[in-house]
Amino acid sequence: MDEITLQVNGEDRVVVAELWEPLLETLRDRLHLIGAKRGCDDGGCGACTVLVDGAARYSCMTPLARCRGKEILTIEGLAANGHLHPLQENFSRYDAAQCGYCTSGMILMSKALLDKIPHPGESDIRWYLVGNLCRCTGYRKIVQAVLETGKGSK
Ligand code: FES
Ligand code: FES
Repeated sequence: MDEITLQVNGEDRVVVAELWEPLLETLRDRLHLIGAKRGCDDGGCGACTVLVDGAARYSCMTPLARCRGKEILTIEGLAANGHLHPLQENFSRYDAAQCGYCTSGMILMSKALLDKIPHPGESDIRWYLVGNLCRCTGYRKIVQAVLETGKGSK
């Protein structure tokens, strides 16, 4: 076991864990941040997506050793000053979540996209979200929510 400091949603968090432990396990089982979902646990669904130093990562496939001293953003840390992030507003406005299991991963992957391409087109969005699976929505409303966020609508 090692002592590792992470910065999670703006706060230093110290965990004692094996270096190979997946970040998803640390977040959910040690830090009780359950917004990142355990879907396939094998890099195939995107439900566990979080941002590590601003880059979208599948937390089920990211060992803790790669997170030492890094900034981790989970869905719990996305709203600021009591206001939802525009992506959260638009996912709600355009009914882009049904069961919600994929939603935190979709939103964080979309944030990574918007941080890189502030006004993405539909093809950018579909390309970025290709690894995030949704069994409920048919994707159209998700794409619309991200598109509108890029246009500045909320
Ligand atoms: S739970 Fe990580 S990609 Fe599916
Ligand atoms: S809303 Fe149910 S899996 Fe996407």
